[in-house]
Amino acid sequence: MNRIMIVDDEKSIRVMLKRVLSDKQFEIDEAADGREALEKIKQGKYSAILLDLRMPEVNGIEVIEKLKEQDIDTPIVMMSAYGTVPEAVEAMKLGALDYLVKPFDLDELKLILERIIRQNEIQKENIYFREEEDKKFNFKEIVGESSAMKRVLEMVKKVAHLPTTVLITGESGTGKELIARAIYKNSPRQEKPFVVANCVAFSSNLLESELFGHEKGAFTGANSTRIGRFEIAHNGTLFLDEIGEITLSTQAKLLRVIQEKEFERVGSSTSIKVDTRIVAATNKDLLKEIKENRFREDLFYRINVFTIDIPPLRARIEDIPLLVQHFIRKYNQILNKRITGISQEAISLLMDYTFPGNIRELENIIERAMIMCNNTIMDRNLFFFLEQKEGFTEAGTLKEMEREMIKKTLILNNGNRTKTAQSLGISRRSLLLKLKGYHIDIKPGKGK
Ligand SMILES: Nc1ncnc2c1ncn2[C@@H]1O[C@H](COP(=O)(O)OP(=O)(O)OP(=O)(O)O)[C@@H](O)[C@H]1O
Ligand SMILES: [Mg+2]
Repeated sequence: MNRIMIVDDEKSIRVMLKRVLSDKQFEIDEAADGREALEKIKQGKYSAILLDLRMPEVNGIEVIEKLKEQDIDTPIVMMSAYGTVPEAVEAMKLGALDYLVKPFDLDELKLILERIIRQNEIQKENIYFREEEDKKFNFKEIVGESSAMKRVLEMVKKVAHLPTTVLITGESGTGKELIARAIYKNSPRQEKPFVVANCVAFSSNLLESELFGHEKGAFTGANSTRIGRFEIAHNGTLFLDEIGEITLSTQAKLLRVIQEKEFERVGSSTSIKVDTRIVAATNKDLLKEIKENRFREDLFYRINVFTIDIPPLRARIEDIPLLVQHFIRKYNQILNKRITGISQEAISLLMDYTFPGNIRELENIIERAMIMCNNTIMDRNLFFFLEQKEGFTEAGTLKEMEREMIKKTLILNNGNRTKTAQSLGISRRSLLLKLKGYHIDIKPGKGK
């Protein structure tokens, strides 16, 4: 059950909201002013706070500031009367997640609450990362010693501090969003908002109002004014996730904001100027999309200024042991477990697997195994299902297989050349030649 706190000095509004929201999904608590709200929020756990902007004594903005001081990060949705839009924007900059202009549409409110609660659940999982995220050029949360990953981080360092648009490509689960956040964290805009717009989650019309906002009455269902992601990301960074999914008509509008740095809310003719750094991501081959007339070439050249391609996990299996250690640490905290490691046999199974879902899939597999694990070390039994999955995946060319096999054996032998040659049944000399030929540079002592 999700508990919602409603803060409004108008009793009629509290009563009305309580009535509509008190269904199976939400349990409602209320406060008549900012002070009472702060007291209650300190004591109880809430999934979201619906906060009125203008209240006597402690107003909405002050409530947000106080909560921030106390490190309380319950998601906040602002409610305000027409005419207080600048203050609402201010509230969003201080950390409110969304805002509704009164009188607003109750279905819209429900949708927003559901979305926010879901987002917050996801964020909780990432607390571990956030703690590590703060230091400058500290890529601690980004694990990877492979040359492929080092190249990616090198590119992040080169471009982060510039205002340049960045396009991040890579299969699903390779870490595109993680890299986008690293760019933001290492940019001069790090104190300003990082706003995510997931282009795939919306229909074309909804996406436009999500990106650009809309005026009240702009279309059926637009019962209140709404600020778009571009506006919220003013002076900050906008992450356009899954940009390959945007329809052609929305692409045209996007092109205009990128070129002219201005746009209009849906249903409005007033232009709004924004200064937003754009980082976009896609798992699609945009050149192919262009060929098939699903993506505008001019837009492509606008976003393809600096492209970072993240290789799939199966092309950097030497990162698997490190990633596994990283996720063990992360989920020991989240699951309150004391797992210290994983058996060599289990690692070996993981390195044989192709991970179509990449790092996200690896993370899920480790989390599941840790939940099941009754020991301090996870053994291969916890991963037996990978053997069955494996039968369906493509093997690749003989050379690729040889390269992966050598890499894997080397990692399992902790980089030791002699032992590796022995277990592969070849001479040390021919192993060294193959390492050179395949550009494998795993050093001894690495990849524990
Ligand atoms: N190099 C890495 N080190 C540690 N964790 C990583 C790394 N890359 C990805 N992850 C983790 O894997 C998960 C998936 O990453 P992310 O969401 O950034 O991928 P994505 O490419 O955006 O995926 P999708 O295309 O499915 O949206 C996240 O939990 C992320 O923290
Ligand atoms: Mg993503």
